[in-house]
Amino acid sequence: EKSKSSAPERRPFSRVTQEDLAWFQSILPGRTVTDPDLLESNNVDWLKSVRGSSEVLLRPQTTSEVSQILRYCNSRNLAVNPQGGNTGLVGGSVPVYDEVILSTALMNNVLSFDHVSGILTCQAGCVLESLSLYLEQRDYIMPLDLGAKGSCHIGGNVATNAGGLRLLRYGSLRGTVLGLEAVLADGRVLDCLSTLRKDNTGYDLKQLFIGSEGTLGVITAVSVLCPRKPKSVNVVFLGCETFEQLLQTFQLCRGMLGEILSAFEFLDSECMRLLKTHLRLSNPISDCPFYIVIETAGSDANHDSDKLHHFLDEAMNTSLVSDGTVATEESKIQALWSMRERVTEALTHDGFTYKYDISLPVEQIYQLVLDMRQHLGERARSVVGYGHVGDGNLHLNITSGARDPALLASIEPFVFEWTTRQKGSISAEHGLGLKKRNYMSYSKAPQAVALMGDLKHMLDPKGILNPYKTLPDHLTRLD
Ligand code: FAD
Ligand code: MLT
Ligand code: ZN
Repeated sequence: EKSKSSAPERRPFSRVTQEDLAWFQSILPGRTVTDPDLLESNNVDWLKSVRGSSEVLLRPQTTSEVSQILRYCNSRNLAVNPQGGNTGLVGGSVPVYDEVILSTALMNNVLSFDHVSGILTCQAGCVLESLSLYLEQRDYIMPLDLGAKGSCHIGGNVATNAGGLRLLRYGSLRGTVLGLEAVLADGRVLDCLSTLRKDNTGYDLKQLFIGSEGTLGVITAVSVLCPRKPKSVNVVFLGCETFEQLLQTFQLCRGMLGEILSAFEFLDSECMRLLKTHLRLSNPISDCPFYIVIETAGSDANHDSDKLHHFLDEAMNTSLVSDGTVATEESKIQALWSMRERVTEALTHDGFTYKYDISLPVEQIYQLVLDMRQHLGERARSVVGYGHVGDGNLHLNITSGARDPALLASIEPFVFEWTTRQKGSISAEHGLGLKKRNYMSYSKAPQAVALMGDLKHMLDPKGILNPYKTLPDHLTRLD
């Protein structure tokens, strides 16, 4: 039987002709790419797990160009794959067949920055790390941070509603994105690029596009509310004997660090093994079953340091943690963060990776890793757990020597059924993309799934925008 995560049949979209290419070249001279070697990296996802066969990559610079492209593609019934930094982890960012790739790579200008309010307005193709550097020079930071910062685009972040390492402190993009501009499938430009904190005039349409994974419109610009750059940052790397102790440490930490707590992340000893084996990173503390990365960010170094040391004394004295190290200096902070941020990369060296990104009540999150290990036994090479404890978000990853359909059949739907029993979500932050599209109903009521189909049909009646992604196959309805 065909896996529910494999691609459906190609839908009856038109194929790109010489006339189409000539038209694209006329509006995007020098920015219409057809060289197969240049297209290769845009056709393959970051995990190298899905591959499309697009023959054309378009690199617009302006909203008007995006609008012209979509109006044309819609009239010609050509499917379009919006692409940012191509770091997505669910197969949503690359074409499935021969969709036209519309990249935001050249839409990378900051449009404005208000020094008083901290509101940044920029084009969708700005790389997250570039925005962070831009803001740091102005004493601000981005409200989100993730391991893919060097490549991912802010438009891609918004399109996936990326969570990342700072969500615990600054909240999700649903709160920090104040406005956005999107181009609809037929080329209409929807200007919701507000920079207001408060605006209750009717429905909040921007929310439709946040997390819509390129299926409802192409995001061309965003405005984001940015926090002030903290004056003092500390990072602590701790080891715990049990997950129960890790959770108690989280409770203690929330109570004692309060408003300066900015991240609480974890990885297990299997992740540490992969970091050592594949990336030659060495454990900064003694070997433990669980590791925690805690970050504090505040405005007074002495105050933060006092608080942190009281917390550490308490955690050590009560034997909640068995070992730890603290960093206040930038290079050591980076080194400790790498132990958490580079797990994703270490996994790619371990073998073909099956990735699950699950929201659960926080007390439950590690039980899924234990149950999966027992369920798969020797069949998996590694079964590892890490993630955003502070957000109740587990990353469960399973590797095998090569792609293994029998192993996949043992993992799915086991993992989804387990999650549903705990009333969790099968996608906490990565989205559904191609790989998880047919599993939406594990986390959403039938009425909600149907309404999503109606919205898609209303905004994109020909279904040209990122087909085969996010929505389950049975909702496909073409005009
Ligand atoms: P892409 O991968 O290019 O696209 C992702 C999806 O968004 C696709 O469906 C695409 O069609 C759509 N899209 C892209 N740009 C637009 C646009 N302008 N308009 C409309 N649709 C668009 N994710 C997290 O949530 N938290 C993490 O901590 C995290 N860490 C990561 C660490 C690593 C090392 C890697 C490789 C990935 C990580 N991710 C994480 C996943 C990924 O980086 C995010 O989903 C990111 O937000 C994707 O941005 P991108 O620009 O690369 O988008
Ligand atoms: C992370 O938190 O490291 C990212 O979401 C990437 C991943 O899940 O591997
Ligand atoms: Zn994550």
